[in-house]
Amino acid sequence: MKVNSMLKADSVVKNFGGLRAVDRCSFEVEKGSIVGLIGPNGAGKTTLFNVITGLYKPDAGRVIFKGEEISGLQPDEICHRGITRTFQVSRELKIMTVLENMLLAFKGQKGENIFRAVLKPTYVLEQEKENLGRSVEILKTLNLYGLRNESVAILSGGQRKMLELGQALATGPEMLLLDEPTAGATFGETGTVVNFIKWLRQKQGLTFLIVEHKMEVIMNICDRIIVVNYGRKLMEGTPEEVRANKEVREAYLGREG
Ligand SMILES: Nc1ncnc2c1ncn2[C@@H]1O[C@H](COP(=O)(O)OP(=O)(O)OP(=O)(O)O)[C@@H](O)[C@H]1O
Ligand SMILES: [Mg+2]
Repeated sequence: MKVNSMLKADSVVKNFGGLRAVDRCSFEVEKGSIVGLIGPNGAGKTTLFNVITGLYKPDAGRVIFKGEEISGLQPDEICHRGITRTFQVSRELKIMTVLENMLLAFKGQKGENIFRAVLKPTYVLEQEKENLGRSVEILKTLNLYGLRNESVAILSGGQRKMLELGQALATGPEMLLLDEPTAGATFGETGTVVNFIKWLRQKQGLTFLIVEHKMEVIMNICDRIIVVNYGRKLMEGTPEEVRANKEVREAYLGREG
């Protein structure tokens, strides 16, 4: 294991009936790094996320987070340990304002415990004030502050994804797994998301594993890239190494043709 290993997948296998969606996949993500996970449609990227975050138990292999095995744990326990993810397809946001949705993400966090609410109302009030401050800060960084009092119903696809990214931060993660964070985003929104991810890594030392089909985004932000195809790791390397790899180009072109 690398000295600074944050996440490690060790020969992970996930089958759906006769289909092997993830096939003996092994990789490591270093603390504080931004790692891309790319591959053609159906390569097993989302399934890998689902295994790491506990939605599925691997059929074989292990997932290690900060030196401890997490495979088989429940999703909320894995989230509690410090991994939060966003979803490829936007989950349904509540029909409330943008700010209310952001505040809601803090619910269930510290201070929302009913006994604390009864015993320490001042503590809860302070907590709520802090949540509001953090929500405003996140919305400002995501260029969503001007829309804070609008219903989420008016948000564009890209803005919804950005709000979900903001919500993911409310759980105070150490590591974020983002499934196509700029899908449906405009050119400008994509730039905002890219800058936000870089800022989170730099200022808060967060670690990222990002699935993304937009190559310019992946090449721009990732320290390392893992390429998967048919559930298997095809290669791993720097953006330059991946760009120069013949097999990678063939894997993509092969599916398109
Ligand atoms: N719950 C499921 N039941 C059965 N098969 C599934 C399930 N989830 C995924 N699969 C299959 O597993 C394979 C990998 O799917 P997955 O969604 O992980 O791919 P992906 O790399 O995320 O693709 P995309 O880039 O299109 O999002 C596909 O063949 C898919 O049809
Ligand atoms: Mg997917």
